Amino acid sequence: ATTLGAAAAEKGRYFGAAVAAAKLSDSQYVGILDREFNSVTPENEMKWDATEPSQGRFTYTNADRIVSHAQARGMKIRGHALLWHAQQPGWAQSMSGSALRSAMVNHVTQVATYYRGRIHSWDVVNEAFADGGSGARRDSNLQRTGNDWIEVAFRTARAADPNAKLCYNDYNTDSVNPKSTAIYHMVRDFKARGVPIDCVGFQSHLGTSLPGDYQANLQRFADLGVDVQITELDITQGSNQAAMYGAVTRACLAVARCTGITVWGVRDSDSWRGTDNALLIDRSGNRKPAYQAVLDALNAG
Ligand code: G3I
Repeated sequence: ATTLGAAAAEKGRYFGAAVAAAKLSDSQYVGILDREFNSVTPENEMKWDATEPSQGRFTYTNADRIVSHAQARGMKIRGHALLWHAQQPGWAQSMSGSALRSAMVNHVTQVATYYRGRIHSWDVVNEAFADGGSGARRDSNLQRTGNDWIEVAFRTARAADPNAKLCYNDYNTDSVNPKSTAIYHMVRDFKARGVPIDCVGFQSHLGTSLPGDYQANLQRFADLGVDVQITELDITQGSNQAAMYGAVTRACLAVARCTGITVWGVRDSDSWRGTDNALLIDRSGNRKPAYQAVLDALNAG
């Protein structure tokens, strides 16, 4: 196949990009998006600050622009993210305790219900674990409502949209390390107790080397009985970029339960990583060596 989406589809996977609603009026951007990708993730438009700017008042205008664009073209939609310590509206940032717990549950219910049936996978909880060696939860207003907030979020999302895959999503989880292992233990516990979780997202914001156990780490999560997805892939441009993109793609294809890859933007100029030029398409809209490496990996075998 000659595009990322079509090549991934031949392998039973999707290939997606993070999309910004404001860029849907840029014809070069839309041309590349529609040609290459068969899944989208709204980059910011489904976050709490965007969807519930004041308590109980929900706004979906920008998210709906992306959802409409995707649905009209048969693209899958990854919902991102129902709950996160960042990009909360001001009113939620200043809440705590049972009031915040109620607001959190209502937020998940309202947003997941509004999009019921249209979201392939939801990042129900994003980035709830601390970096470093502690294996602890990240401190946040949500965490301070009680350690059970994550399972409450998953049960609430399942009730609101029973057919969406429910994911836990995080970064710095690209090898077997204390953070990924703490998440592994949570997922194992959820599966053992029947807490509804279907997938784990590995953001994979990568630098200049790929951990040697990248694939093995994906596999150990898949072996718990969840799908795995690469959800926000970007890789620093350097001598290694194309080779690393190829290796990440091959790792996903080698794990039967790795169901898709999403890159975190369309062109280098669209990326939150600025001068890292971390994506597959350059600032002029041209395919980079990294693009060819991904396409070749998808087409191999
Ligand atoms: O919408 C406002 C706009 O009105 C204002 O004029 C402009 C001025 O700065 O800011 C705009 O908001 C920005 C927003 O992106 C939309 O462009 C925020 O300042 C900016 O902080 C925000 O950055 C996003 C970041 O998450 C926020 O934490 C990035 O676009 C987005 O790529 C990034 O994505 C995260 C994932 O959600 C989770 N994983 C890590 C990843 C990278 O940080």
